[in-house]
Amino acid sequence: PVVGLEVAHESATLHVTGAALYTDDLPARNRSVLHAWPVQAPHTHARVVSLDGTPALRVPGVVRVLTAADVPGLNDSGTKGDEPLFPAEVMFHGQAVCWVLGETLESARLGAGAVQVGYEPLPSLLTLTEAIEAGSFQGHQPTVSRGDADAALGSAAHRFAGEIEFGGQEHFYLETQASLAYVDEGGQVFVQCSTQHPSETQEIVAQVLGLRSHEVTVQCLRMGGGFGGKEMQPHGFAAIAALGAVLTGRPVRLRLNRSQDITLTGKRHPFHARWEAGFDEDGRLQALKAVLTSDGGWSLDLSEPVLARALCHVDNAYWIPNVRIDGRIARTHKTSQTAFRGFGGPQGMLVIEDLLGRCAPRLGLDPAELRRRNFYRPGQATPYGQPVRHAERLHTIWRQLFERADVEHRREQIAAFNAAHPHTRRALAATPVKFGISFNLTAFNQAGALVHVYKDGSVLVNHGGTEMGQGLHTKMRQVAATALGVPLDVIRLAPTRTDKVPNTSATAASSGADLNGGAVKDACEQISARLAEVAARRLNIHPDDVRFANGTVTGIGFHDRDIAFADLVHDAYFQRVPLWAAGYYRTEGLHWDGARMQGEPFKYFSYGAAVSEVEVDGFSGAYRLLRTDIIHDVGDSLSPLIDRGQIEGGFVQGTGWLTLEDLRWDVSAGPHRGRLATQSASTYKLPSFSEMPEEFNVHLFEQATESGVVYGSKAVGEPPLMLAFSVREALRQAVAAFGPGGREVQLASPATPEAVFWAVQDVRANA
Ligand code: MTE
Ligand code: MOS
Repeated sequence: PVVGLEVAHESATLHVTGAALYTDDLPARNRSVLHAWPVQAPHTHARVVSLDGTPALRVPGVVRVLTAADVPGLNDSGTKGDEPLFPAEVMFHGQAVCWVLGETLESARLGAGAVQVGYEPLPSLLTLTEAIEAGSFQGHQPTVSRGDADAALGSAAHRFAGEIEFGGQEHFYLETQASLAYVDEGGQVFVQCSTQHPSETQEIVAQVLGLRSHEVTVQCLRMGGGFGGKEMQPHGFAAIAALGAVLTGRPVRLRLNRSQDITLTGKRHPFHARWEAGFDEDGRLQALKAVLTSDGGWSLDLSEPVLARALCHVDNAYWIPNVRIDGRIARTHKTSQTAFRGFGGPQGMLVIEDLLGRCAPRLGLDPAELRRRNFYRPGQATPYGQPVRHAERLHTIWRQLFERADVEHRREQIAAFNAAHPHTRRALAATPVKFGISFNLTAFNQAGALVHVYKDGSVLVNHGGTEMGQGLHTKMRQVAATALGVPLDVIRLAPTRTDKVPNTSATAASSGADLNGGAVKDACEQISARLAEVAARRLNIHPDDVRFANGTVTGIGFHDRDIAFADLVHDAYFQRVPLWAAGYYRTEGLHWDGARMQGEPFKYFSYGAAVSEVEVDGFSGAYRLLRTDIIHDVGDSLSPLIDRGQIEGGFVQGTGWLTLEDLRWDVSAGPHRGRLATQSASTYKLPSFSEMPEEFNVHLFEQATESGVVYGSKAVGEPPLMLAFSVREALRQAVAAFGPGGREVQLASPATPEAVFWAVQDVRANA
């Protein structure tokens, strides 16, 4: 079968030759295009007391200033009613209060500079601490609990308490937010948009314009990265472009430059957590009590589901009999934090991985051993009541990883190295991943596809998922080729469009291939069932005995009478057999009570583990990532090259979050309070080739067939990001090795070289 073959990304050649088209590359139709530029408020929190666009209209080339008065529908770009598109009250530094349309980008920019806005500054809350002290929260406050955490803490042999506050993350997709809108005949709107969620973009554009969904079409050809940052954030920009197009009758292009994108769009949520944990004599977790507070920024956006996933992942791979985790979302005057690869899962897991890393020395246990002892065992369930099926995989993966990575031997080498180098410390650490796959909200776990077979036997596949570089279209080609029994080159993927497949879910929660793969397979199987009847008549056999493989149709035992797929299609057409089908898929067996935070929200869990070795310089805190070994469970891989890329990329992105990427807001009381200081690649350090592990071994877990998912595969998009905890824990252990050991080592997140330096200083001071 074509699934399981190592094939290159279907756009790889286009990507590397620069020929791949992104939203901003697409030509505008009919009339010359207008460009949009935001007027960004220089305040963190302020009332807009006046707004005068007339000076902008005197700038040559400026065509129109878009303000709240122009909105024919609802002045809101969100789904919760708390995100005014043209705000009367500025809620974060740099928020767009209005937009200017110009014949050129430069005229729009100059026009935006000429708009006169009067502000009345208001007091602001910026940090989590400020928000918590002020009691500034938004949305639901969920709790996950099981057993009696207080009683179990009271009777635990060892009891520890701690606190951690850690940073968010900028998506830094290479392609910034972009939309290109047209008005078609009859006032219908067409928007090309870099969006992970075309259906929701369509709904928000319709909401703002006061149109019905069937009057708005959204298309996404591909994204230059999304990472969750294009799950909700594109809607408002698409609405601005569409509004401009409706008002002027001309195409409107909106593409943010980098600093606009960083200052306007939401990021990964920073979190604060306070916890108490109880262990028995052997280091087995007996109880965990924690309060997690996320920094949601100015509006809710996806903060509630992100928090729900965080709460559902605090356990990570560990059995904790008595649990009480409370969650809340702080409201601060910052960008509205949003989905980011892992969707809260990484934040929940950071709490427990940090906790175990800190408690291990106090329990007198090797951190890897402490982790292993607490792994789920078959038969156990998560705190929210989902059985941990295939829990034995955690143990197997861990064992295989330690062998493959030669951990025992390398530990001796590391000890010898450290003994010989007074100012350098090496350490290795291993951490596991267990990540739930499916949207928590059951209704989102459905997908559709539309598959056309043309008379010449070529196939065009539409499905509801979007391509952001993750290789979804490549996998869907492989699924369609397998289901139809044709070679890969017969299948072409069409851009994602809301008029082809309606009511789609976001391509998110790593479930793109599971959901859309199910739908594509369903459509293809409907077509091949019809074709089998045509073939059966021609071969004079039963339809069940017809086989499709590699573009050839045969009857079992009739190898001399092969029919070419294209010939069969030709016959079918003349017999008036429909050659296209709509496919549908819904994930079975899910249920979730979001109010009680109980149920079985996930189809299955993804498992993996990583071991990373670092070297820390004691003078500067600078470090190198010497080697990482990973074993990760992707079921029976649909596309091993794609999956390997996702594992490597996810791991590196996670390492960036935990060790390099440091978002800094000005929290002073000065005139720039609330301004994001890290607005570009020169101040916001992303991982690059030099931060890759010097030796990087990725291995797919074998004999991993997952039942009930398309061709036995598992999702891969997000889980590997959390393998990066191994790097942070290795850094902690290397820091510890500068002291006598046996003490808790606290490490900031991100563990930048500076943070590592201060942690080393701490260890030395307490030695
Ligand atoms: N890989 C690339 N190259 N670019 C991306 O934007 N997004 C990630 C992941 N891998 C992303 C990526 C996120 S956040 C998710 S949820 C999944 O891909 C979405 O795609 P999938 O469901 O098809 O795996
Ligand atoms: Mo991914 S954060 O679910 O888009």
